[in-house]
Amino acid sequence: MIETLLTEQEKVFVEETWNKLDKKLSKTAVKSREKLPYTSQGGVHDNWTDKDVLWWTNGFWGGLMWLMYIGTKKDCYKKTANRSEILLDAAFQNMQDWHHDVGFMWHILSGVNYRLTGDMDSKNRNLIAAMSLSSRYNVDGNYIRCWNNWGDGDDHTGWSIIDCMMNVPILYWASRELGDARFKRIAMRHADMTLRDHVRADGSVNHIVVHETEKEGVVQVRKGQGYAENSCWSRGASWALYGFTLSYIHTGEKRYLDTAVKVANYFIAETEKTAWLPRLDFRQPPEPVRYDSTAGAIAACGLIELAKNTSGEERLRYLSAAVNLLKAMEKAWCNWSEEEDSILQMGSESYEKGVHMPIIYGDYFFTEAILKLKGEEFLPW
Ligand code: GLY
Repeated sequence: MIETLLTEQEKVFVEETWNKLDKKLSKTAVKSREKLPYTSQGGVHDNWTDKDVLWWTNGFWGGLMWLMYIGTKKDCYKKTANRSEILLDAAFQNMQDWHHDVGFMWHILSGVNYRLTGDMDSKNRNLIAAMSLSSRYNVDGNYIRCWNNWGDGDDHTGWSIIDCMMNVPILYWASRELGDARFKRIAMRHADMTLRDHVRADGSVNHIVVHETEKEGVVQVRKGQGYAENSCWSRGASWALYGFTLSYIHTGEKRYLDTAVKVANYFIAETEKTAWLPRLDFRQPPEPVRYDSTAGAIAACGLIELAKNTSGEERLRYLSAAVNLLKAMEKAWCNWSEEEDSILQMGSESYEKGVHMPIIYGDYFFTEAILKLKGEEFLPW
């Protein structure tokens, strides 16, 4: 019902933007059916099918196709979503190298397929992903380990990252599906640790926390993809904003809602300063100006769900912040050319890389946010 709170002008924006998404994506759905894209080069989607099938973003293209299917019921989207899931099956040949991002990879692809169609292969894929994620929980250190070791000299055994708040929803789903609370308990243990060790008092967040591995305790906070150890990487903040909102939706625990609100207020205050175009890091130096469109798209989704779970002035404030983000990014950063594959430009991998580029999950979250504003209640996470 959130769409009923939009102004007439905002409703027109949502409808027009949705039509542009459908016009462009119905073509790209066919062009990129055999790909697992991450970015585009020269206007053409790249393909991670052979490059690295375990790449953490490989579920987003198929997930985006399911969003478009939900909003249009067009077969072209369903076909590409189904194909994407089959292409990703190659990941099962190498489960040793799986990491914590299995929620990003399967929950919005196989999980959504199962929930929409009842497909049992999809259910099994998603259950395996949930089991794999829960096996990364360190019972003594009380955190979900993010990455395996990459051979670059860093030992990741004790590492957790803020991004994992978007992976834990697959655990809530597994508990509901199996009628067994153990997955949910792990998700909540990890969420409680994140609330304590990653989220700062002012609503900004730490990207990487290194934990003791044989007892609870923080060894070190590390920089990650933002500007500095004590800065605030905007995508990290958006993962926290949406992730804690989802943990609240799945558990009803008010501490998660309060945390989402704290992060949201910080994110809004920082983004208002730059006309709703999010900087890559809210504490980066004034020059060079680096942006990250993906942070804005993720935050918009979180803010809309937050609006659904708050009331009165607060609800309107979150809804209007989401619309402001989407409108500003649509105007400044969306490429609607049907000759080119990506939509949302100006994503950023990290401060260190210092390159702006389209990234597939920018398109995914931008579309999810617009679909929500059209009134769709299906929650992929
Ligand atoms: N989860 C990795 C990233 O946000 O770049």
